[in-house]
Amino acid sequence: MRPPKRITLDDMLLRCWTPTDAPALHMAVLESFEILHTWMPWAAERPQLSDQKSFITSTISQWDTGEAYVYGIFAPDSERPLGTVGLHARVGPGALELGYWLHADHTGKGLATRAARALTETGLALPGIERIEIRCDEANTASAAIPKRLGYCLDRIEDYNRDASAETGRKMIWFKSHAEAGGSQHG
Ligand SMILES: CC(C)(COP(=O)(O)OP(=O)(O)OC[C@H]1O[C@@H](n2cnc3c(N)ncnc32)[C@H](O)[C@@H]1OP(=O)(O)O)[C@@H](O)C(=O)NCCC(=O)NCCS
Repeated sequence: MRPPKRITLDDMLLRCWTPTDAPALHMAVLESFEILHTWMPWAAERPQLSDQKSFITSTISQWDTGEAYVYGIFAPDSERPLGTVGLHARVGPGALELGYWLHADHTGKGLATRAARALTETGLALPGIERIEIRCDEANTASAAIPKRLGYCLDRIEDYNRDASAETGRKMIWFKSHAEAGGSQHG
């Protein structure tokens, strides 16, 4: 069972990426490069269009293999991405890691929090998934505010090899399981 490829929320649409999104995604990354470079290891260098083409190709194949379910965040009437949110099967069995970033012009409006809420519910509804994790550097307060707003619990803080310029090398690991989500059991 896979999550839906489109999730409609009040004022935004989460949908899987398609190859035709590459130029608009590339533009969004360039326009947001300063903040992305600060926190995202994949934004160490200013990207080329080919990087976003490769990214989209990998999201399509990862969707098919179940390695990750990555969505673009869009306004309902626009093809210009406002950001990205995704679930990644890279934190052990029964768990998915939730990641996100926003276009620099679209922060401060709750888009990431609401997209993360929707994907938390979507992830916990998948068979065999017991836990959603959000991992962020201790210094990334804007990111950490999202699991806090959504009622995640802080599980632990671990040392890690820092990759991006503002990272401290201390990673917060937040989680929400069925218990925190209200006790409903799936799968
Ligand atoms: C992390 C990131 C997505 C957070 O963006 P953000 O704009 O702070 O998050 P949201 O879209 O949820 O917006 C939250 C803000 O909107 C406000 N808000 C308005 N309406 C809201 C609503 N309905 N629900 C929640 N928050 C709302 C909140 O109060 C908050 O304001 P504040 O910043 O003054 O406290 C963004 O900083 C980013 O892209 N950073 C670079 C990439 C990154 O670090 N990714 C995470 C790696 S772990």
